[in-house]
Amino acid sequence: MNPEIRDMAPADIDAVFRIRQDPAVARNQYRIHPSENAEVWRARLLGLADTAIYRYKYSTISLDNTIVGYISQIHTESAGQKIVQCGWNLAPEFWGQGVMAAALSSLFDGLLSVDNVQHVFADCFRDNLRCKRLLSKLGFVPNAILIHHRIIIAAAMRCLHWIDRYRLDRNTWNHLRANQITKQTTGVAEQF
Ligand SMILES: CC(C)(COP(=O)(O)OP(=O)(O)OC[C@H]1O[C@@H](n2cnc3c(N)ncnc32)[C@H](O)[C@@H]1OP(=O)(O)O)[C@@H](O)C(=O)NCCC(=O)NCCS
Repeated sequence: MNPEIRDMAPADIDAVFRIRQDPAVARNQYRIHPSENAEVWRARLLGLADTAIYRYKYSTISLDNTIVGYISQIHTESAGQKIVQCGWNLAPEFWGQGVMAAALSSLFDGLLSVDNVQHVFADCFRDNLRCKRLLSKLGFVPNAILIHHRIIIAAAMRCLHWIDRYRLDRNTWNHLRANQITKQTTGVAEQF
C-alpha cells in the first residue's frame, strides 16, 4: 500500500468534506460546526487563519489519483520546542488496508526526522479502538489530559465522548524507523 501524500489544495476541499461527512467517519469525530464550511477551510489552506501562535496545515492522501483521506495539522511551539497536533480521516471503503499508517509514516518522517518537530499529539474518542491500534502501531503513548481540560475540549469540540490524548516523540519515531530499516536490510519484513 503506497498512498501519495501532498499538501491539500483548495480544489480538494469538496472531496475531503465528503469523507468528513461520511456517517462512519463522523461517528468517530467531533461534530462539525455549521460555521466550518469550505470558505473557512480555504482560508486555512491559504494561511489566512494562521496566528502568531499556531499555523494550520492539511495534507491529502490519494490512491491512484483519487483522494481517499486527509490529515490535519496545527503547528505550534512550546518552551522553544516545535509541536504538532494532528487529526486524520480515511474513507471507510479503504479502512483496514494500512493506508493511514503508511500516510502518517511518510508525514512523520518529514515532521519528526527532518523538520525537528519534538512531539506530535493526537486525540481520539476512548471507544475508537481502530484508531487506538493505529496510534500504538506508530509508537504513540498515552498523554495525560487534566480533567478540566478534558471537559473544555469536549465542550469546545461539541462532543459527549470521553477523549484520550496520545503523544509521539521525535526520539521514539527515529528509533522505530531505525529498527524497521535494520529489519528490512536483514530480511525480516515488518510493515505497519
Ligand atoms: C482510524 C482510521 C484512520 C484507521 O485507518 P486505517 O488505514 O484503517 O488503519 P489500519 O489499516 O492501520 O488499521 C488499523 C488497525 O486497527 C485494527 N482494528 C480494526 N478494527 C478494530 C477494532 N474494532 N478493535 C481493535 N482494532 C481494530 C486493524 O486490524 C489494524 O491493526 P493491524 O494492522 O494490527 O491489523 C480510519 O479507520 C478512519 O478514518 N476512521 C474514522 C475516523 C477516525 O476514527 N479518525 C481518527 C479520529 S482520532
